[in-house]
Amino acid sequence: MAVRIGLAFNLKPEAPAIPAGAKSDSPSIVSPEVITEVSSPDDPPHAALGRALRADLPQPDLYAEWDEPATIDAVAAALATVGEVIRLEADESFAERLRATRPDFVFNIAEGLWGPNREGHVPAICEFLGVPCHASDPLALALSLHKGRTKEILRQRGVPTAPFILARSRDDARGVQLPFPLFAKPAFEGSGKGVSVKSLCHNRAELVTQTDYLLETYRQPVLVETYLPGREFTVAILGNGDEARCLPIVAMNFDTLPPGAPPIYGYEAKWLWDSLDNPLDIYECPADILEGLAQEIRSAALAAYHALECRDWCRVDVRCDAAGRPMVVELNPLPGILPDPRDNSCFPKAARAAGMSYDDLIRAVADIAWRRISGRSLLEKVAS
Ligand SMILES: Nc1ncnc2c1ncn2[C@@H]1O[C@H](COP(=O)(O)OP(=O)(O)OP(=O)(O)O)[C@@H](O)[C@H]1O
Ligand SMILES: [Mg+2]
Repeated sequence: MAVRIGLAFNLKPEAPAIPAGAKSDSPSIVSPEVITEVSSPDDPPHAALGRALRADLPQPDLYAEWDEPATIDAVAAALATVGEVIRLEADESFAERLRATRPDFVFNIAEGLWGPNREGHVPAICEFLGVPCHASDPLALALSLHKGRTKEILRQRGVPTAPFILARSRDDARGVQLPFPLFAKPAFEGSGKGVSVKSLCHNRAELVTQTDYLLETYRQPVLVETYLPGREFTVAILGNGDEARCLPIVAMNFDTLPPGAPPIYGYEAKWLWDSLDNPLDIYECPADILEGLAQEIRSAALAAYHALECRDWCRVDVRCDAAGRPMVVELNPLPGILPDPRDNSCFPKAARAAGMSYDDLIRAVADIAWRRISGRSLLEKVAS
């Protein structure tokens, strides 16, 4: 009998839709000024909104982390080659439908919407109902979304990461004892939300202004850390325990950013300066670097993966400090997986560089999860 795979996802809504009961002070809500603030001075507010942003919403990036139908269809199609797929949209009726359908395991790409634990909601419901879940558990997902907690764990485990403080007030930013330049970003956002060219602060006045703005806009602590001026990489990891391995490293080529833009892969680079018609050719994979540096990057990324106790897959962002040493910036245990090769999507790109098609990647991850859960291979089952 085919393994029954529940596919948990959040579908990016087309129509304006702020869920009932949503509060404007939700940690995930920002005001429209965020767009005005980060757009180039030449752009009128909202005029330059890229795809995936919603000009009709008070917070255009509210659904930035959610998936397009094409991604959900592509994942479902790949999973259908190794099992029976049951689509489970992670909406308010998710728990009921999970209980009613009881798949053998859930393949989770749902990002959640509200609160700092949003990425952990689906696996927590699975845990509650005793349904095994692919990818990281609720604790690892919530910790990884909180960049401050993540860095505390990395520091404790000796994984290289930049010095930082968590600013909960303007006064915290005024009193920071770290040398400038510093980098300021919301403590628990992803997909470039709240990370802009203004995150790079050259002096205390800029830092206080930006911290104030982020505190007010995102209603959560601001991570203030040493600015890492070196090259940037991202590492896709597959597998568990000793079998965890890195796919070819992706390097960011900041020369592709508009002239004068600082080397930051934030909101503008992800959402304003990159489109299917005019793609930013920012990823270089495999990264053209010396093997010594590649080994340091892989070892930092794997150490971070194990320190946070991630499962099955994860993408780890790494950037070099002034001395050229790779520092872990953050972990993405729910990595973006756009299926169209023309799209800038690191994990599928790294998989392609390793000779894996999109379907190969999704099948491999599902197999890794199913072997962890059941001790059996999904792929052998299909082959036999
Ligand atoms: N300390 C730092 N020094 C230099 N650049 C940084 C630093 N922290 C972040 N950045 C830049 O900002 C970008 C976004 O930061 P980060 O990865 O923390 O945000 P994110 O929104 O969680 O990203 P993702 O889209 O991967 O979820 C990084 O890719 C990097 O270019
Ligand atoms: Mg990142």
